[in-house]
Amino acid sequence: MEEMEALRVTACTRCPDLVECRSRIVNGTGPDDADVVFVGEGPGAQEDSEGEPFVGRSGSVLDDALRTVGIDREAVRITNCVRCRPPENRDPTGMELENCREYLEREIELLDPEVIVTLGKVPSEHLLDRSVAVTKEAGSVEDVRIDGTLRRVLICVHPAATLYDRSQETTFEQALERAADLADLDETSGGQTRLDGF
Ligand code: URA
Repeated sequence: MEEMEALRVTACTRCPDLVECRSRIVNGTGPDDADVVFVGEGPGAQEDSEGEPFVGRSGSVLDDALRTVGIDREAVRITNCVRCRPPENRDPTGMELENCREYLEREIELLDPEVIVTLGKVPSEHLLDRSVAVTKEAGSVEDVRIDGTLRRVLICVHPAATLYDRSQETTFEQALERAADLADLDETSGGQTRLDGF
């Protein structure tokens, strides 16, 4: 727990635009031994105001889908590629992603998860270091070296995509089911991570 506390970024001024726009730095949430880590793009308005990732509209979609497939949100780690809100919800720039990468890599290293789920195009391309057609590739798994260690990455659509295109809901839930299977949530948690009744 102390290690995770040390991971919290409390002061950073690497990205001038983001420093200007943010109200606070939004660190990852969830246990430091989580088997599944969800990586989004960056905080939106609600996340910036509450200081937690995925607490706005996208967060509700994520929560609903996690509940549907029987994953307990409290048992997984949820974080972002960048920890400060980009102005007008624009995508983070390449430089901003690089500036923040060290924090994400340290978080992943400490967690040593079974699977990293990339929520949308930005985190998928950032971690896989190639262009990704997220809708087509959602649910597929790739082993990739992150800071020298081979990590299992599962590509997933961004939760907000399901708001614009309902057909993405199934794709989204199927990817989450795959994450639960890859992390063997039933077995490793003694039944606590995957909620009873699913
Ligand atoms: N979208 C993201 O990618 N991350 C959040 O934390 C919220 C919305």
